[in-house]
Order: sequence, then structure tokens, then C-alpha cells
Amino acid sequence: MSNLWKTKSLSQLLRTAEDSEKGLRRTLSASSLVALGIGAIIGAGLFSLTGIAAADNAGPAVVYSFILAALGCAFAGLCYAEFASMIPVAGSAYTYSYATMGEFIAWIIGWDLVLEYALGAATVAASWSQYVAKFLLTFGIEIPNALLHGPWDETPGMLNLPAIMIVCLLSLLLIKGTKESALINNVLVILKVTVVLVFIVLGWGFINPDNHSPFIPVNEGEQLVSQGSMGFFDFFQSDYFGQYGWSGILRGAGVVFFAFIGFDAVSTAAQEAKNPQKGMPIGIIGSLVVCTILYVLFSYVLTGLENYVNFRGDASPVTTAFARTGYTFINSALTIAIIAGYTSVMLVMLMGQSRVFYSMSVDGLLPKFFSDLHKKSQTPWKTNIIFMIFVSLFAGFVPVSDLGHMVSIGTLFAFSLVCIGVIVMRKTNPDAVRGFRVPLVPLVPILGVIICVTLMIGLPGESWERLAIWLALGFVIYFLYGRKHSKVNNPD
Ligand code: ALA
Repeated sequence: MSNLWKTKSLSQLLRTAEDSEKGLRRTLSASSLVALGIGAIIGAGLFSLTGIAAADNAGPAVVYSFILAALGCAFAGLCYAEFASMIPVAGSAYTYSYATMGEFIAWIIGWDLVLEYALGAATVAASWSQYVAKFLLTFGIEIPNALLHGPWDETPGMLNLPAIMIVCLLSLLLIKGTKESALINNVLVILKVTVVLVFIVLGWGFINPDNHSPFIPVNEGEQLVSQGSMGFFDFFQSDYFGQYGWSGILRGAGVVFFAFIGFDAVSTAAQEAKNPQKGMPIGIIGSLVVCTILYVLFSYVLTGLENYVNFRGDASPVTTAFARTGYTFINSALTIAIIAGYTSVMLVMLMGQSRVFYSMSVDGLLPKFFSDLHKKSQTPWKTNIIFMIFVSLFAGFVPVSDLGHMVSIGTLFAFSLVCIGVIVMRKTNPDAVRGFRVPLVPLVPILGVIICVTLMIGLPGESWERLAIWLALGFVIYFLYGRKHSKVNNPD
């Protein structure tokens, strides 16, 4: 009988790391790791969802939503840093949980990471296409609405064709083995950060204070609760919850949390870091700090340039807002940089997805098929093709905000488990060498769990239902397949 809670030992994991290390060079310095993090972090969350979260949930107070989301990420980021400095193996949260909480939880995390990586790539692709369409329009080329929006979007169409095309193109690139070199990534990062800085600096002078007033738009439900004419539970279940006011800031934080996703991608490069014990924490925490500062300033300027209500259903709020400045001539340059920036995020996510399924397949939890490498390019090409189809379907047909919610809830769930994992690992392996230690354990990981779960509670009920359905599907697959084929449980 297999044991659901059987863990992979630390020595087993470190052996895997040593084996796969042959061939890989330790070339990434701490600053390259920060750049790698920023490359994976800044994307659709900032350039698209900020406007949507302001319009639907928080108004100008989306600035506070960013701060709240950053706090949750900071605690989870510290926990990631401890694991990454201790277990420098690819597979990230999946691998960490295999070592701490056993196979079943590891399976749940690996399965859940599909929401983060595959659906994350779909979300970015869906909003990438909106910027591409706006860009082409400046040359008089108009993509018809039917080919730009899925059937369930606010402005319904047939499918989001450019999103499908970019997903296919990038998946094919990955199959060919085209690897983003640190150099190309650095160039993209400089481009992205420049766009954000240009937007903040040039936009600042055009902020219209009227747009920031009231900074926290009124939520009628919250008023009813404070007057005693509505119970809190009724309010929580009503449509008022999450529409402006404090509950709006909370729900907005769950939405813009998406903008921080990707810092965990730094941990997958642990095997290529020059000095992982020092470099990992600097890479993870450093990229989070830089992004938080940029996000807060950016969202302040965005909501100051244009009234938040005008961002409803607008997946390219940067160009909408920037039209309020006198510098519209650089709008095209901004758009090109944003498009390039999105591309690097999609690449990292699609690659991260194939790495996680690859690791799960090597461990026997998924069929061998998923870890078959291409003879020439040495890439897990079958996994890439399957996810090319899966991600294209989501990117082409599902509205961007629904996708974003699914990604956020899935990732918050994974982060919570990583935080718990640190506490477990301190008990089970107290003497293992840790290049970096989370301060004040168990307080910091517990705070991480509390904030992540609170952000999850702030997300709409449908995202919970979808998460539950996805996990239930995962359970079925695990009990029908993974449990019987797991290498840890069935050593030969
Ligand atoms: N954080 C990444 C983005 O905003 C996923 O696109």
C-alpha cells in the first residue's frame, strides 16, 4: 500500500541537483537574478489588471491593494528564499513540498501550479493581444472585434486570435530550445523598467487631483453594515462586497497579486546561481522590493491621469491614460516595450510549466510521456505541445479577468503551502544547512499564510469553485495514476 505522506529525503534531492548540475554553469550573479525576477514579474498584472482592478474594485485605492499584495508576497518570498538556498533544484514549490509535506501535497501543488504557469501565460497572452491591436491601429490596421475577443468578454467576439498565435509561436520556440539568455533578459528588463519610469515621470505632471477624489470610493454595503442595517455575513455574500471601499481594496489586492507572480521563477534558476546561498534571497527579495516601489508609483499616476471608471473592460489602460499627457507621440514606443515585456513573461511561464510537469513525470506522478526529451533540442517537446493547445484554448476564449482570478487563487494557495512547508522543514530537518533563514519562524510564515488566505477570501466565489473543481480533477488523476506509479512509493 502506498503512503500518501511519504517525503523525498533532502539528500535524495541534493543528489538530483548534483546530477543535473553537470552541464549547467554557475553564471548568474545576484544582480542578474534580480533582473531575472523583474523579467518574470512585470507584465500584464501591471499594464492591464491595474486598470481593471481600479475600475471594478478599488478605484484609486488600488495603490493600497498593491501594498497589501506586496506584503503577502514578501512573507511568502522569504519562505521561498529559505527553500531555494537550501534545496537548489528545479521544480520550485512542487519540489519543496515533496521534501516536507509528502507526495500527496506535492502532487496538489504541482497540479495547482498549472493554474499559475499555464493559465498565467494565457492571461498575459489575452491582454498582450489588446496592446498589439492598439499598436497596429496606429498604422491603420484594424483587427476586427470578432477576432480580438472571446465569446464571454465584455465586448463579445468569436476568439482572441492574436493571443492564440503568440502562445503557439512561443511554444514552438521553446521546443526548438531557444533559451532566453541572461543578456537578452537584461535588455528586456531595462526596456520594461524604462517604460514604467517614463510613464511615472512624464505622467506625474498631468495628474488631475479630481481623479483621486475620493481616493477610496464609497461602498454602499459597507455603509449599511456600519449603520447596522445589514449583517456582515450578508454583506460578504452580496454584490456589494469587493466593489470599492475596504472590501474593494482587499479584492483588488487579490487581483493585482497577479502582478507579483513570477518572483518564484527566480528559485528555478537556483542551479545556475553563482552563490545560491546569498544570491537566491537577494534575487527574490530584491526583485520584489523594486517591483513594489514601481507598482505603487505607477498605479498612483495611472489613476491620476484618467478617471478609474473609464478603465472598465480596458485591457490596455496605459495607452488610454497616457493619452491625457502631451507626450502621445511616444505612445507607440511605450506600446512596443510593453509588448516585448509581455513576451518575456509568457516565455518564462510556459517554460516553468514544462519544467514542473517534467519533474512530476520524472518522479513517476505523471506518465513518462511528459518527460520525453526531443532527440535534437533536448526539450520536453510533448509537454510543450500539450500546453500549447491547453493554453491557447484558455487565451483564445476565456475573459482576461476570469483568467487572472484563477491564476491568483491558484498561486496564493501554492504560496500558503510553501509558508507552511518552512515550519515543517524546521521541525523535520532542523540541522540542514540553510544559506538563508526566514526570521522569526513560525511568526513570519504564519503571517504569510494569513495574508495569502485573506487575499483568497477576497476573490470572487466562482474562483473558489473553479479551484475546487481543478483540485478535484487532480485528486482523481493522482489516485488513478500517480499513486500507483510514483517512484518514491514504488522503488525498483
Ligand atoms: N507577474 C506577471 C505579470 O504581471 C505574471 O504578467
